[in-house]
Amino acid sequence: MRGKHIIVGVSAGIAAYKAIEVVSRLRKAGAEVKVVMTKNATHIATPLTFGEISNHPVAIDMWEEIHDWNVEHIALATWADAYIVVPATANVIGKINAGIADDMLTTTIMATPAPKFLCPAMNTEMYNNPIVQRNLADLRSLGYHIMEPEVGWLACGVTGPGRLPSPEFIVQWLTEQLSSLENKHLLDGKTVVVTAGGTQEYIDPVRYIGNRSSGKMGYAIAAEAARQGARVILVSAPTSLSVPANVELVAVDSARSMKEAVDRLYDSVDIVIMAAAVSDFRVANKAEQKIKKMESMTLELVKNPDILQSLGERKTHQLLVGFAAETEHVVEYGQDKVKRKHLDMLVANDVSKANAGFNVDTNEGYFLYPNREPKVMQNMKKSELARHIIREISDLLSFKS
Ligand code: PMT
Repeated sequence: MRGKHIIVGVSAGIAAYKAIEVVSRLRKAGAEVKVVMTKNATHIATPLTFGEISNHPVAIDMWEEIHDWNVEHIALATWADAYIVVPATANVIGKINAGIADDMLTTTIMATPAPKFLCPAMNTEMYNNPIVQRNLADLRSLGYHIMEPEVGWLACGVTGPGRLPSPEFIVQWLTEQLSSLENKHLLDGKTVVVTAGGTQEYIDPVRYIGNRSSGKMGYAIAAEAARQGARVILVSAPTSLSVPANVELVAVDSARSMKEAVDRLYDSVDIVIMAAAVSDFRVANKAEQKIKKMESMTLELVKNPDILQSLGERKTHQLLVGFAAETEHVVEYGQDKVKRKHLDMLVANDVSKANAGFNVDTNEGYFLYPNREPKVMQNMKKSELARHIIREISDLLSFKS
């Protein structure tokens, strides 16, 4: 659990008080925990207690609890590594399964790409109700992890299934579930090409036209793809970074050498992620010898091939992910690139921001798709954004197959 970001959603079951100990145990195990409560749950356990135990403000109301200027539910949803609802009432289970998002809990759980865990707890008759059972079965088939309630004496005076297991057992179950998910790598058996860095267009043997790309974004993606079990080939323009573990490097310099390398690999790979900043122009007549000093000189530039666009035009089975470095109209210009380059996904970053884009450790922007709504990615470390990108790619692959 160390370093994991966990959201604990608390809905209005009589067992809501047990969630306090779940939060406390998760924190003791090293996780960072944020709590989201339904309004009704606040009648059973106080937000003050959850706030104290989690050491974070508790999110309840979509409209009143704005702690910063991020869109709160999206910020929470993208922050989470796992989302567990303790207890999950019949009402909340029904709403989640019906796609209703009318409060902070149901909205954040709908918005998160993180794995989701539900701990149902309710009266036995309610638990056995075919509607509740059908909702649970639907959610299971959608990938939700559902904990079996215990059989025992319930607050309503009956004995049967529906009791929330002990906080100790819930935390143990969540830990096991997460570790088995982590052992199942998202990209097992896949071959991925990642491009990174800024291409260099030579003027003469010692001078070139370059850009500010450090390669950090592409290298973070390559590292995460390798961690997720893929064979990763990193086609990289010169950078000062070390090659991540289990990643094969193909070193290139100019846009044309990058294109040659990517084209050679293209037919045999499953995924291409173009994070490199590729020069749109090159010098028309590169000098063979170092150019001598002179009062002034004019360089003639000619257009470079668009590597990504040509990959898009001859795409067969590959999943194609591009980046867009924009300084204005980020979504609009990004959407245009999705269409023009036949992409499955595009990460549009606003490089006019100081803490995003070129040569910094953080990034932010949007995930854009040909046929889906954009997803906002708040500012985060490039390593964390890389995790989101790989998780998203894995989801897109599962839709494709
Ligand atoms: O390397 P860092 O310092 O970590 O910075 C990261 C980054 C800002 C470089 C990265 O996040 C990023 O945005 N990379 C893409 C930069 C870019 O070239 O954007 P573009 O909008 O000009 O190009 C769109 C897409 O087409 C990109 O995937 C690019 O790789 C590709 N392209 C562009 C031109 C060209 N001739 N051929 C291409 O394939």
